[in-house]
Amino acid sequence: MTVLDHTITRVSVDEVTGYTSFKLGSFEFRRDEYFAHITWPKGSHIIEIDRFLRAMVRDIGWGFFYGWIFFDDVFGTTNHYGTVDVFAGSYDRGCKEAGIDFLETFSAQAVSEAFEAISRDWISNGYDPLNAPLETGTPIGPKGEERTDPLLRAFIAADRMLGLEGDKPVRSDETGHPVNRAFADLTFDTPDIVCEHGFEGQLHAINLFDHIARSDVTWNPSISAVTRANICCVTSEEHMLPVIHGNDRNEWFIQLSDEIHWQIADKNSGQPRGRIVMKAGDVCAMPADIRHQGFAPKRAMLMVLENGTPGLEARYASGELKPYPVDFG
Ligand SMILES: [Fe+2]
Repeated sequence: MTVLDHTITRVSVDEVTGYTSFKLGSFEFRRDEYFAHITWPKGSHIIEIDRFLRAMVRDIGWGFFYGWIFFDDVFGTTNHYGTVDVFAGSYDRGCKEAGIDFLETFSAQAVSEAFEAISRDWISNGYDPLNAPLETGTPIGPKGEERTDPLLRAFIAADRMLGLEGDKPVRSDETGHPVNRAFADLTFDTPDIVCEHGFEGQLHAINLFDHIARSDVTWNPSISAVTRANICCVTSEEHMLPVIHGNDRNEWFIQLSDEIHWQIADKNSGQPRGRIVMKAGDVCAMPADIRHQGFAPKRAMLMVLENGTPGLEARYASGELKPYPVDFG
């Protein structure tokens, strides 16, 4: 595998729209008022700009996540944990048969810097691709005023259990995190905390539903608890997952409220494998050999459990581990 150490270069600025076009390796990225245009030596592709930007900022923010991030059926990235493939058509049967598929491997840092440069230039004030579409402006149109706030929501590490003295305050009206309109009908009981004598100040509990209900982003972890390789993320989801995720390991979902519809397809060909509707209380394991995209008609709470064990992707890819976690019967 050849890893390109190319960094992103600015090609030109469009005089009419004000947007910059970029080049990373053999890929060129250009946007107009409605669309992102991607070209590579053997082909070209077009993606609606909102979808492109919502996918791109999450790809950077998630550190390319596990496995494949498809912006749509054609374009995306694959994480090799240190290096990242940028591909076009490599996992699309039609593109492969037409011989226009293309893939280049870069250092993860090069892709991250490239995507951040593109996003910075192509996102204007008033539009936040991490917000639900109903809660932000539109990216359509010529370049506007530059955004000066952080493009990504940085992770804030807790020093202690949330709410215990010495840590940041939990989300509340006072901290500028109101309950989202979709969860206005919920009541949030405060947990009773009965502490053994001598352990005062060391034990605490919060209402997790209350915390998630105050998240201002969608399809982006709101709390992550990490214990060695076990990663537990809770998120609020509304509208559609802006990427199609191709798993390189099993991934567990626990639906905490409302419902999410999932479209599941074969990871390599995109051939449909199934549709599931997860309702509150449902649990499922997404297999290691699929790609999937979620649709939440109403804002929903989801808990995702990931196994971050290094090298797990190779054990699934080689067939050593079955692509699903449980044999029934
Ligand atoms: Fe996934």
